[in-house]
Amino acid sequence: MTWPILPTTVVGSYPQPDWLVDHEMLMSVTPPRVRLSKVWHMRGDELERAQDEATRLAVRDMEEAGLLEPAKSKVLEENIPAQYRHPEGLWYGLTVRGRVIWASGDRVKPGEIASYEDLTDPKWKGRICVRSGKHVYNVFLIASLIAHKGEAAAAEWLKGMKANLARKPQGNDRAQAKAIYSGQCDVALANTYYVGKMATNEKSPEEKKWAAAIRLIFPNQRDRGTHVNVSGAGVAKHARNKANAIRLIEFLSGDFAQKLYAEQNFEYPVKRGAEVNPLVKSWGGFKADAIGLAKVAEHRKAASKLVDQVDFDNPSISN
Ligand SMILES: [Fe+2]
Repeated sequence: MTWPILPTTVVGSYPQPDWLVDHEMLMSVTPPRVRLSKVWHMRGDELERAQDEATRLAVRDMEEAGLLEPAKSKVLEENIPAQYRHPEGLWYGLTVRGRVIWASGDRVKPGEIASYEDLTDPKWKGRICVRSGKHVYNVFLIASLIAHKGEAAAAEWLKGMKANLARKPQGNDRAQAKAIYSGQCDVALANTYYVGKMATNEKSPEEKKWAAAIRLIFPNQRDRGTHVNVSGAGVAKHARNKANAIRLIEFLSGDFAQKLYAEQNFEYPVKRGAEVNPLVKSWGGFKADAIGLAKVAEHRKAASKLVDQVDFDNPSISN
């Protein structure tokens, strides 16, 4: 059987699956503009979330289908610490974000939580909110627990978390801040950059209140460090302009682009010594888990299975 040529998208554009974009409408406008809000099936935050998911699905599909090409580059090796890139150059991390703990500024005292492990303490029963355990951010956190402590310990942690949930896992990361703001829960797991995005959101100013309601906690500073994930890039195997693709990734890992990521999206630059946004700086420095993310990724499937086995997304909530 002959395989169809796999469709690739132009650098800089979003993947545009049918469930996300009205292709007929898109092609009826000349030139086709995805910036037109009417071509998307979703709006606002929901659209942002769907675009994120579509991007992740597209990259994962490519990785699993073996469609990424090992790319070697001295510049990339210099700019990006080894822990944040694939050992053979299948992908390169471009920004780093902590998967941290958000705690209510009023209802959780400083120092009450020091680690991810602390969250399984029964004192947090009915007080924790989190998005679905199946979401890639949580799956990778669980994968890092497997990498450090083994599957049995990771399963115990998941069960302990599940027992402490205030509600069924739902929403995106920002929705957890809203839940803390509105008193539904006191503690959540989420990425760092959303705090910056909420705190400066002029379009939805109510999010500023959500950000103000939470305090960031960088877990596990006394031992392995805070789990981090990355946004990144890789070269597609069938890319027509491989040299340019690598040059683009090099550019994105350089000072200019790293500064933009830090300024615009409140990310930690992956490049050593690149500037951090002052707001991000105000959260304080932290020690990141030094484990290689390619090592963590090896446990992704096992982590995802654990979430199912523990039935994490279906807690029995007793009020
Ligand atoms: Fe995100």
